[in-house]
Amino acid sequence: MKRLLLGAGLSVVFLAACQTARTQHEPTVIVVPPDELTRPPSLGPSTSATPEAAPNTAGTAPATYVGVTPAVPASVGVSKKHVYNSVNVDGPYVAMTFDDGPHPELTPKLLNELKKRGIKATFYVVGRNVEQYPDIVKRMADEGHEVANHTWSHPSLPKLGAEGVRKQMHDTTAAIRKACGVTPVTMRPPYGATNAALNRRMAEDYGMKVILWSVDPQDWKYRNATTVYNRIVQNAHPGAIILAHDIHASTIKAMPEVFDTLTAKGYKFVTVSELLAMERAPQLVKKETPAH
Ligand code: NI
Repeated sequence: MKRLLLGAGLSVVFLAACQTARTQHEPTVIVVPPDELTRPPSLGPSTSATPEAAPNTAGTAPATYVGVTPAVPASVGVSKKHVYNSVNVDGPYVAMTFDDGPHPELTPKLLNELKKRGIKATFYVVGRNVEQYPDIVKRMADEGHEVANHTWSHPSLPKLGAEGVRKQMHDTTAAIRKACGVTPVTMRPPYGATNAALNRRMAEDYGMKVILWSVDPQDWKYRNATTVYNRIVQNAHPGAIILAHDIHASTIKAMPEVFDTLTAKGYKFVTVSELLAMERAPQLVKKETPAH
């Protein structure tokens, strides 16, 4: 069932389960019931935080929430959605995403492996690491990867006030621009912790789509390259957004074989913005599972 729904590339709801902020990482992805698959686009994103995860913001999403986002470049996505776990596309495209870097040794090793294969990825960088390793961020951009915002210091955004969120986003974008001249158009909230109000704010105030994931190897937990490899390869699907972290040696060790196996299976790697640009119009979404 999980594969079927994920294969359909449709919305999933996540839990901000990792609110124990000491743990580094990302929550469990929970598949929504089939009813959600036919949710009219006019209702906006189906993602929401659980009351336990974000008690201060639960229930604040307006019922008629419509995501008109003039600040977002027209090239990024065809729908009015603000938040994505995966993208409905017409081909075997996937986006590899790497969070929490750059790391001084591991990220350059990963960039070497990507370059050898001509694969483009997306890096959700942490602002304070960008400030420390700007040359690595410049290399990412120079080699065609997407550099995107993962906040300055990796806090749970729903726990911050408006000014705290603004500073996390602004300082990180400024550091990215200084390092490589690029203004990010997507962001990933730490721990996947977000809510409808934050998603809308990211679009309207920062011109950024909120990018979660549909494939999670939990590589922060499984520090074993074979496990990370298996969890990615077994769950990959057309339109997938694959989560990984370029700060773990075991993840970097897994990547060459992940890239080669997925390529052999016919998958093509694109950046998140490229995947969004391939999104099929909502009215063309089918309920059937595409063959893959
Ligand atoms: Ni992270």
